[in-house]
Amino acid sequence: MKLQEHTIIVTGGASGIGRQASLSLAAEGANVIVADFNIDGATKVAAELTQKGVKAFPFKVDVSKAAEVEAMVDFAVEQLGTLNGIFNNAGIGLVKPFLEMDPATYHKVIEVDQHSVYYGMYYAARKMVALGAKGTFVNTASIYGTTAAVGSFNYNAAKAAVIMMTRSAALELAAHGIRVVAVAPGFINTPIIGNDAAMKESLARQHLHGKLIEAEQVASVVAFLFTDGASAINGSTIPVEDGFQIFKNS
Ligand SMILES: NC(=O)c1ccc[n+]([C@@H]2O[C@H](COP(=O)([O-])OP(=O)(O)OC[C@H]3O[C@@H](n4cnc5c(N)ncnc54)[C@H](O)[C@@H]3O)[C@@H](O)[C@H]2O)c1
Repeated sequence: MKLQEHTIIVTGGASGIGRQASLSLAAEGANVIVADFNIDGATKVAAELTQKGVKAFPFKVDVSKAAEVEAMVDFAVEQLGTLNGIFNNAGIGLVKPFLEMDPATYHKVIEVDQHSVYYGMYYAARKMVALGAKGTFVNTASIYGTTAAVGSFNYNAAKAAVIMMTRSAALELAAHGIRVVAVAPGFINTPIIGNDAAMKESLARQHLHGKLIEAEQVASVVAFLFTDGASAINGSTIPVEDGFQIFKNS
């Protein structure tokens, strides 16, 4: 086990990629704060982790609210004594054609998918530097941070920002012993992509294996990025997209 005695916060931990990442981190011995808007889901995941022998606590947070993210970081240290990293992963998609991309829809996605990553890194970094704790931040970007998609102006903008915020924070936090990296998932089989079978099929065809990627396949990469095995990966965004970027489907 490579993350024993580490304390890691996972946002969006109630579902999908965040839930699986919480399980993968616990399998490496990490203690986890399972943070989510959905406190019932977070409570269930934390109970699963506790059964596996690590310490885990649920925390209700709206990651788009700075004060709540700060309280989440304080809670982690109060409960577990230190902080070694955060997986800034909670996110939403609100798909609309550009001509209907009203300010409220635009800002909602920017706040939840982009500002949250700044808040998470900012409050976690300040706390870790104050404690003299070292560690890793992993942010969830997307293939849509580099590839434009119809109806995704807000999401494209937010995820592109996550990629650059990852680089910029890595540059400044290296001196404090904090690595900052991101993952850019392809199309993952989680509730965020909806339940339309035809849509799922068309997304799956954009991967080399012709299947949606499972959350476990992202979680295993995320857990690795938190370990010392990834110590020379810094500021980078790691694609987890089964070849999405290397070919164009007709
Ligand atoms: N599923 C995909 O195809 C895919 C692809 C690329 C990137 N991503 C990104 O992966 C991340 C996780 O998504 P997922 O696929 O696991 O979806 P998901 O819907 O299963 O999980 C998202 C979680 O985030 C939580 N959440 C949403 N808004 C929140 C808020 N304001 N505060 C706190 N928690 C909030 C939800 O309650 C949910 O538990 C997101 O950032 C998403 O943009 C997903």
